[in-house]
Amino acid sequence: MDQNSPCSALDLVFKRRSCRVFTDTPITPEELDSILRAGCCAPTSKALYPCHFLVVDSRSEMQKICEYHNMSKALVTAPLCVITCADTARSWASWRDDAAAATMNMSLCAEALGLNSCWLGVYPRIERVNRMKEQFSLPDSIIPYSILALGHADSPKPPLGRFDPSCVHYNRWQRNS
Ligand SMILES: Cc1cc2nc3c(=O)[nH]c(=O)nc-3n(C[C@H](O)[C@H](O)[C@H](O)COP(=O)(O)O)c2cc1C
Repeated sequence: MDQNSPCSALDLVFKRRSCRVFTDTPITPEELDSILRAGCCAPTSKALYPCHFLVVDSRSEMQKICEYHNMSKALVTAPLCVITCADTARSWASWRDDAAAATMNMSLCAEALGLNSCWLGVYPRIERVNRMKEQFSLPDSIIPYSILALGHADSPKPPLGRFDPSCVHYNRWQRNS
């Protein structure tokens, strides 16, 4: 598929890859607005909507994250990132699932806009959670769950066909050795 052609929803799912090196092309306010709206459209358990989205476009703040997040290469060149947080006072056990769904919605929205992204894990690594709470002065009930680095890929990766039929089971668990 031509990288620049409009994508169907299925194309987006199949061609998405994590990007860790971005060009210096900025993300427009309209693109960011769509990405944040996509995050808010994600399904959420009991319709409790516990997610908050912290947009970080300050190079120095992103550099600070790199000091305690050892897998954050994508933040070195990303023009911005969105930290998905959950308000645990506004949810019950499912806030992690809600935050994951929001992160994935934003990632696929980025693909639809011709952008690229990389999901950086935060929760449940307690050191990353605590350092991030301190850095951004997050209230007690707010837990940072993930970082989505966003931008235009420096060199887009090819799609990978990862379908593994041995992971699929019909009606009962079958051993596929
Ligand atoms: C929960 C989660 C946490 C991840 N954390 C990181 C991370 O901290 N740093 C990173 O560079 N990539 C991270 N990734 C991206 C994975 O490394 C990536 O999805 C995986 O290698 C498969 O590659 P692909 O996304 O290109 O298909 C994370 C992905 C998920 C779903």
